[in-house]
Amino acid sequence: MAKPNISIFASGRGSNFKAIIADQSLTCQLLVSDNPTAPVIEIAKKHHIPTFTFEPKQYADKASYEQAILAALKKYEIEWIFLAGYMRMIGPNLLNEYTGKIVNIHPSLSPAFPGKDAITRAYKARSEQTGVTIHYVDEGMDTGPIICQQPVPIHEQDTLETLQTRIQKTEHQLYPKVIKELINVKTLVE
Ligand code: GRF
Repeated sequence: MAKPNISIFASGRGSNFKAIIADQSLTCQLLVSDNPTAPVIEIAKKHHIPTFTFEPKQYADKASYEQAILAALKKYEIEWIFLAGYMRMIGPNLLNEYTGKIVNIHPSLSPAFPGKDAITRAYKARSEQTGVTIHYVDEGMDTGPIICQQPVPIHEQDTLETLQTRIQKTEHQLYPKVIKELINVKTLVE
């Protein structure tokens, strides 16, 4: 059975994107980014992965730029969308077209610390643990049905940086695995 085509949406650094495409069982057919200067675009180019980049301010509204995204997704026959640091809410255009096929990764144990700076807020709250959540996307901020969560301890001697590193490592291991399960791809290499 052919693998379904996937698109990754990212706005920034792209370490999750890198971890996903480093998995030999996965291929990404299209990177979508709302930030034409994001480092993630260079990673895509280096790996010859097609990109669709846009600047939201050049469109009248979210509906218009999501129409442009949809056209790109159709062109590449994309079946699943995985958000990896995409800093925008998904609007009804995309949600209706890709119902149950848009997934996000968030660096906290949802529902704790939704939104930006989740790691910093968990660290400052002196929680004993935080974690990583992978969930389906709905119209809320980091709210859709949870697919998988992995706790990450916060040690007393942690700095924000050591905690960030531990969370990123967890993300980079977890996201490719979950993507493979969701799109039903057999693992080639563990
Ligand atoms: C990750 O922590 C992810 O959980 C969050 O945004 C961050 C993206 O990091 N949604 P990167 O660009 O993949 O390095």
